[in-house]
Amino acid sequence: KKRVVSGVQPTGLVHLGNYLGAIKNWVSLQDLYETLFFIVDLHAITLPYDAPQLSKATRSTAAIYLACGIDSSKASIFVQSHVRAHIELMWLLSSSTPIGWLNRMIQFKEKSRKAGDENVGVALLTYPVLMASDILLYQSDLVPVGEDQTQHLELTREIAERANNLYGGRKWKKMGGRGGSLFKVPEALIPPAGARVMSLTDGLSKMSKSAPSDQSRINLLDPKDVRTYLEFDNPERPECSNLLSIYQIITGKTKEEVISECQDMNWGTFKTTLTDALIDHLQPIQVRYEEIMSDPGYLDNVLLEGAGKATEIADITLNNVYQAMGFLRR
Ligand code: TYM
Repeated sequence: KKRVVSGVQPTGLVHLGNYLGAIKNWVSLQDLYETLFFIVDLHAITLPYDAPQLSKATRSTAAIYLACGIDSSKASIFVQSHVRAHIELMWLLSSSTPIGWLNRMIQFKEKSRKAGDENVGVALLTYPVLMASDILLYQSDLVPVGEDQTQHLELTREIAERANNLYGGRKWKKMGGRGGSLFKVPEALIPPAGARVMSLTDGLSKMSKSAPSDQSRINLLDPKDVRTYLEFDNPERPECSNLLSIYQIITGKTKEEVISECQDMNWGTFKTTLTDALIDHLQPIQVRYEEIMSDPGYLDNVLLEGAGKATEIADITLNNVYQAMGFLRR
């Protein structure tokens, strides 16, 4: 069975971009593949953050996974920092990752420009090496993410290939390494629709947790009456196709069906149609979220079990890497 991994940062609230670009697609993958879904808390500290909120946000994100239909009997759900191997592998891979590769990352450039020099820690630069470790530790085949992660995935492939070249070949076999390559080279899995959900207020930017305005996004846990800002006066605005594709995914209709249904609607009518569809789709998720959050013991158990299963796989890779890199083993 192919192996699939992915994760979301516990920063801010999970929004419709995270859902349509990532989480919703994970749900169908768990029936076909061996899946591991984590909450990347170690990534969440790469920009200034609120320490007292981190554990809460981590639990809440895990509850959202479950509420959206990730099933702990099929997928391993765990917290990244609970599996120590992620950080260890990151250090090992850092040694063979050129700084130039990291300097090129668009997200690094954007985030560091926004944060200002004083707030840019070293970890913001090395962030993609940790992400590569998250993926390579599990010898993953596929990584379902939104479009904004494609460059990080490309880098992950380069890091894997470089490490395979440096340590994974004949030399490693001589050292007693088992067959195959040290790391499997993974592929990104980008959904055909929903890979880039745009901001509601600026149709040229993606919907983002860090955008200052709450009006720019739809959060998964928004109460019904918050959704009053789907207002459009100008059909020329790029938000238009964004919202049509949100409507398409949420209802499970085809593009053609949506076009023939909506082409004659004015914005007022479409606004109500989309809002109703969203409420129908999100309400069961919200009900389930509340149930899960009201039973902390259950959630803790899911995360404990998930971390256990993940550790077993991760430690095999980590041991191989230490061996291949020539470390004295205990
Ligand atoms: P993060 O937390 O920013 O986003 C989580 C997932 O949501 C997708 N996404 C979007 N998709 C469509 N439209 C949008 N507007 C939108 N905004 C976000 C992201 O592409 C992502 O799939 N570095 C990653 C987390 C990560 C990870 C990993 C992912 C760490 N390690 C290993 C996969 C495998 C991130 O910050 O995602």
